[in-house]
Formats: sequence, C-alpha cells, structure tokens
Amino acid sequence: DSAAFYKTKEAWKEAIQERERAAAYQAAEDPWRQKLHLMPPVGWLNDPNGLCYFNGEYHVFYQYSPFSANGGNKYWGHYKSRDLIHFQSCPVMLYPEHSWDDRGVYSGSALIDHGKMYLYYTGNVKLEGDYDYIRNGREHNTAVAVSLDGITVQEEKLLLRNDDYPKDLTCHVRDPKVFAYEGKFYMVLGARTKSDIGQVLVWESEDKLNWRHINTLKTEKPLGYMWECPDLFCLDGQWILMVSPQGVSHESYRFQNIYSSGYFLVYGDFRTQAYLGEYKEADIGFDFYAPQTFQAQERRLLMGWMGMPDAEYSNPTVAYGWQHCMTIPRELKYADGMLKMEPVRELEQLRGEEIRVCVSGESAVECPRTADILVDNHSEEFYFEYDQTFCLEWKAGCLQLRYLNKDYGRTCRKLRLKHLDKLRIIIDVSSAEIFVNAGEAVFSSRFYRNTERLLKVSGVFDMKIYGLDCENIQV
Ligand code: FRU
Repeated sequence: DSAAFYKTKEAWKEAIQERERAAAYQAAEDPWRQKLHLMPPVGWLNDPNGLCYFNGEYHVFYQYSPFSANGGNKYWGHYKSRDLIHFQSCPVMLYPEHSWDDRGVYSGSALIDHGKMYLYYTGNVKLEGDYDYIRNGREHNTAVAVSLDGITVQEEKLLLRNDDYPKDLTCHVRDPKVFAYEGKFYMVLGARTKSDIGQVLVWESEDKLNWRHINTLKTEKPLGYMWECPDLFCLDGQWILMVSPQGVSHESYRFQNIYSSGYFLVYGDFRTQAYLGEYKEADIGFDFYAPQTFQAQERRLLMGWMGMPDAEYSNPTVAYGWQHCMTIPRELKYADGMLKMEPVRELEQLRGEEIRVCVSGESAVECPRTADILVDNHSEEFYFEYDQTFCLEWKAGCLQLRYLNKDYGRTCRKLRLKHLDKLRIIIDVSSAEIFVNAGEAVFSSRFYRNTERLLKVSGVFDMKIYGLDCENIQV
C-alpha cells in the first residue's frame, strides 16, 4: 500500500474509496460497529492528528491504514463536523508519497494561521538492511502540508531531518505539536535519547518554516524510554505538558497499560527554565493512548485513541475488517490542581427521555444500546454491573473496573479516591467511557459482548439513564 503500487495519486485515492465503499455494505452485519465514536471506514485507526477548528468546522485527522485491520503503512484519514456530533467522512488528506515519508505519514498536528491550515507531521522512513532501528536505519523527518480549504493540500515542505535534531538522540524523534504564542510559533517533539530516556524538545520559529531547538523538557528522574505524542498548552492559566510515555514501570494502582498516557504541570517558562511536576495519568481505562488537544473558540477539547499499541490481543472487529476508534471529544478544565475532562456538552442533544432509578438495595434495569448514565452516589459501597460484561465496584476508598470475562486481556483497573460523588458512563455498542467525579479520572475501555444490556446494581444511589439517539451520526 505505498506509492510504488499506484501509478497516480488519483488511482491510489480511488482504491481506498473503493475499499471504504465495500466495507460500508458490511457494516450493518457487524455486531461491534460503534454508533457514536469515530472509527476507520475500513482497516486500522490509531492516533488523532491535526485536530482543529477551521472556517466553522471541526477537523479530525487520524493515523489510518486502510489496507489492513492490523495496521500497515500510515495515511492521514479525515473526518469533519459542524457540531462534533455529526461527522462527514472525507478523502484521505496525507499519503506516504514522498521520499521523506514513504514508510508512513506519522502523527502530527494542525496550526491555523491567516486563513490557512498547516499540518505538521512526522515522515517515517525505514531503510532496508541490517540496522538497529532505534539507533540507525530510520529517518524521522518533520514536514508540513498546507491547505487552503481543509480538504486538499496545496503545498508541502520538508522542514527537519535526523541531522537537525540534538546529537544525543536516537532516531526516535516524532509527533510535532505546533502552536502560536506571544507572536511566535512553538513546536514540541517527542524523543528518545541514546541512553533510552524519554523527553520533549521545544522549538521556536518566526515564520512557521524555520525552526530552532530552544529547550528540552524532561523529568529529574527518567520516566520511560520514549515520550510519544507531546502536547503543550495553557489551560485556565496553567501550562500543561501531555505525553504518552513508553517504558513506565507498572504499579499496582497506576501505569497498568503497556504504554502510559498522562500529563505534567509545567512550572516556569517552557521556553527557558521550566520544570515538570508529578506525572499523572490522563485516563486509566484499558484503551486509551496518544490524546491530542486543540482550542476551538472558548474551549480546549481533547480526543484520544481508544486503543493501545502493541497490544497482546487484537480486537474481534478484525474479523469485520477494521480495528479501533476514537474517544468521544472531551472538554478540558484545569481545577483543584488537576486536569479534568468531561464529554463535550453537544452530546446531551442526543439524549432521549430520562429514566430515573432510585437504587436502595439490589435491582436490575434495562439499558439502551447507546446510553448516557448518571450516577449520584450516596453509599459507602456500591456495585454496578453492565450486561454481564464489566462491573464497577466502590468499596473501602477504591473504585474498581473489573471485566467479568477477561475480555481480550482486559482484567481489572483500580483507582483510590477520597469520595465517590458521581459517575457518568457513556455506553456505545462496544465501549464504555466512565467519568469519575466530574472528570477527575476517566476509564475508557472497549468490550465485546451483546447479551441483554441489563444493569445489575446494588447500593444507595440515584441513577438517570438516557438513551442516545445516534441515527445518521456518521455519513
Ligand atoms: C503513537 C505512535 C506515534 C507515531 C504513530 C505512528 O501511537 O507510535 O508516535 O507517530 O503512532 O502511527
């Protein structure tokens, strides 16, 4: 699936669209196809890329391998939306078509400036031969594609190659996130040093094309060997660095996934003397990685990949020709010293009639197939079980998400909490996103089971259940 196979870009585009059309016919038969969440039309999806708000529309690009559900060469797939609810599928935006990216148009971000969309990305090149692909044999080039209409690319340019990066790094340098600040432009890049330490490079530019490395953000004690997908932004007056570190040691309450995804508060000026606070996980579910944020008018929004790289099990969707999805877009807030995230408010437009349940003791309640469930907890202990699939158990200051059938390696995640006041659970056909105490913590996880969609609950709490009307959400 690379340039060599297709004579022209038009032929290539046509081959992808043909695959997408064929897959659309099968979707009705697919038991796991989501209703609310963005999925690849066919094939594989990973990181959200180039999230932005441009000429009144939200754009969501993503790492896309249309030719295989298990991954492959990476393109930038594309959806756009006016309201973050109804999404329209658009043609692939970036192809691995240049000498600087022929083994994948890797992750990156969008900058909107003077009416143009600049898409910064990593061009992946893997040399053929007997190489150590960490230390040599690989190029991670930083490039930009410029679009006037948000749908087609007019200009492209290679900006940085391996030799332009600091000399103490391996050839793992990638995932540019670019933003404007105080009249200049800044870019953060994730990196792995030759001594296997993850860090983030900060670059500065006056013209968006020529970049200087001005600072490196790192922890005093190393945290993992590589930091992927960095994002640096100011939220409610606080600078925050998000990263997806690889190689963080597992603990019994934290860092349970193969790779982690979280954030640091940044103290001081990120351009000069900044230091990083304690690392906190952004989402503690089984399926969450490589989130990206963007500013859209008054809000900072986030989407993450609801999946994991190098997972032990692939998902049963592979049998239907696709794998993985995005999270629901989330609104971010910095409060009480932490990053909080909640589903975008637009989601409430899909709510149907309210079903109110006052639980005292044990009960069983039917749940719609796509649902928004609010729990107001009044008890020291409670139990909430969904469709014989997973349960949430609150006991002795610990909230546990437990899979009852160890679905595809998903077992248990634990969170220590002082109080459990509220839960909000967004259920789609094959996923649950569980927001704890108005976004203090989130568990995002996929599941693969379709029985009676029954909630078994016990404890003392009030529950509101809304079905979500998902007709015609994805075009
Ligand atoms: C994170 C990541 C990025 C890279 C992309 C390739 O999941 O490994 O670092 O750019 O995926 O698809």
